[in-house]
Amino acid sequence: MQTRTVATTPYDDQKPGTSGLRKRVQVFRQPHYLENFVQSVFDTISAPQGATLVLGGDGRYYNREAIRIIIEMAAANGFGRVLVGRGGILSTPAASCIIRKYSACGGIILSASHNPGGPDGDFGIKYNIANGGPAPEKITDAIFAASRKISQYRIVDTAEVALDTLGNYKIGDMTVSVIDPVADYAELMESLFDFDAIRALVTSGFRIQFDAMHAVTGPYAREIFVNRLGAPAGSMMNAEPLPDFGGGHPDPNLTYAHELVAILYGDSAPDFGAASDGDGDRNMILGKHFFVTPSDSLAILAANAHLVPGYRHGLAGIARSMPTSAAADRVAKALGIPCYETPTGWKFFGNLMDAGKVTLCGEESFGTGSDHIREKDGLWAVLFWLNIIAVHNQSVETIVREHWARFGRNVYSRHDYEDIPGDQANSVMQLLRASFAQLQGAQFGDLRVKQCDDFSYTDPVDGSVSTGQGVRIIFTDGSRIVFRLSGTGTEGATLRIYLESFEPDVSRHHLDAQEALATLIGIALQISELRKHTGREQPTVIT
Ligand code: G1P
Ligand code: ZN
Repeated sequence: MQTRTVATTPYDDQKPGTSGLRKRVQVFRQPHYLENFVQSVFDTISAPQGATLVLGGDGRYYNREAIRIIIEMAAANGFGRVLVGRGGILSTPAASCIIRKYSACGGIILSASHNPGGPDGDFGIKYNIANGGPAPEKITDAIFAASRKISQYRIVDTAEVALDTLGNYKIGDMTVSVIDPVADYAELMESLFDFDAIRALVTSGFRIQFDAMHAVTGPYAREIFVNRLGAPAGSMMNAEPLPDFGGGHPDPNLTYAHELVAILYGDSAPDFGAASDGDGDRNMILGKHFFVTPSDSLAILAANAHLVPGYRHGLAGIARSMPTSAAADRVAKALGIPCYETPTGWKFFGNLMDAGKVTLCGEESFGTGSDHIREKDGLWAVLFWLNIIAVHNQSVETIVREHWARFGRNVYSRHDYEDIPGDQANSVMQLLRASFAQLQGAQFGDLRVKQCDDFSYTDPVDGSVSTGQGVRIIFTDGSRIVFRLSGTGTEGATLRIYLESFEPDVSRHHLDAQEALATLIGIALQISELRKHTGREQPTVIT
């Protein structure tokens, strides 16, 4: 086996964002682009000789080619073993599960999550550390620094990388183990949830519909819901993973999962609907004619965790990203456990989980998970909901309404303005930051500004500080407006506006969120001068 050292020159744009490096496929296909990044990862982590690396992706266009290159580079960089999902497939949560289970030194996950795929779509790569979670900023910063001065990479020439047959084979001194991408993950799910109770539910007339959006969760959902839990095969839709996700946008929200939404809001709607994203870490939960906001979902899982076998012993704490509503805080208070507020991005939850400070974590962006792995986990959330429903024997809507009646309702919505020219988005953020002094104490009708700042976070475990994590306008009654720029896009900028108010009055819980938040929406547009700066009249996506 011949190891080659290839001379290269740096690219200047390999800075990982909220969740790894994401770029257009064409960008990744530039000469040495992927190789440069992978070598920068290997140089940064300096894994011990003979270490195990987990490798897999969401199956999007360019996945197989990238897997082959990474295996060849791993062999040339002294790894002892690569665990790769058959066909190069691993959902993000399954990769996290496998890194932990087999004590790998880390893993490389190929995904651009919910971004569209295909030759003109997006590709992505991210490094996860030994705990199974995304590399923290100090590592991603070091990877970026390495990518800025890289001069060579190492790779072996190999005739073939056989990805479709389970088993072990050698490339030089390194073993490639092609593993079943689903088995370890399905086993972990079975250890956490009451599969007997869920099986009884889904085989006794309670109808579920799961939309894999032609992305990675299809095979996982079939194995778990159909083979192990007895749900009818027809309850799975778009369950064939496709390299371009069938031309769709595999993001489980009310806009992009419209096919499922139409079914759940239709005449003969099933009792429960759920969808997951490109790489399987997000989830959307629907009831019959009912949508559960991700922020509420986190709070409801926390309030009912004692009903689920894997969480019967109680929760150490809860963490939510800053823009996520404070619904979970109310549950934490009632349970007498801490609630942490972190910046956006799952990587900020890792330290808290490793230190045993939190059990459940969630983000408003359709991400929920727990310390069973170190990624958010779409199917886990679906199973958690089904387990709760099986115990309560109530509809999704009743469970949510009873939760609101007990804790009050944190009315919540996010407005996204996608693909804005970068300078326009920056001028909105600059204007807001420059207005803090003037906004402090300002009165808008009944609402008075109590605090405005740019969120910064000090990690309670390692003391690391992350600044500039989103502009917050907090009112004296607890309502909030948050503005931040997306860190996962590949084209232009996406401005996100997060809106939240608290409604204790049950007689007002039926109100539509947009209606209930109309005043806050008006204030947000006024103080950001968004229409003036961007010419946009309406958000692209409302969730
Ligand atoms: C988005 C979400 C964030 C999530 C990330 C990765 O990041 O808002 O909560 O962790 O995707 O799934 P953003 O584009 O806002 O930076
Ligand atoms: Zn994802």
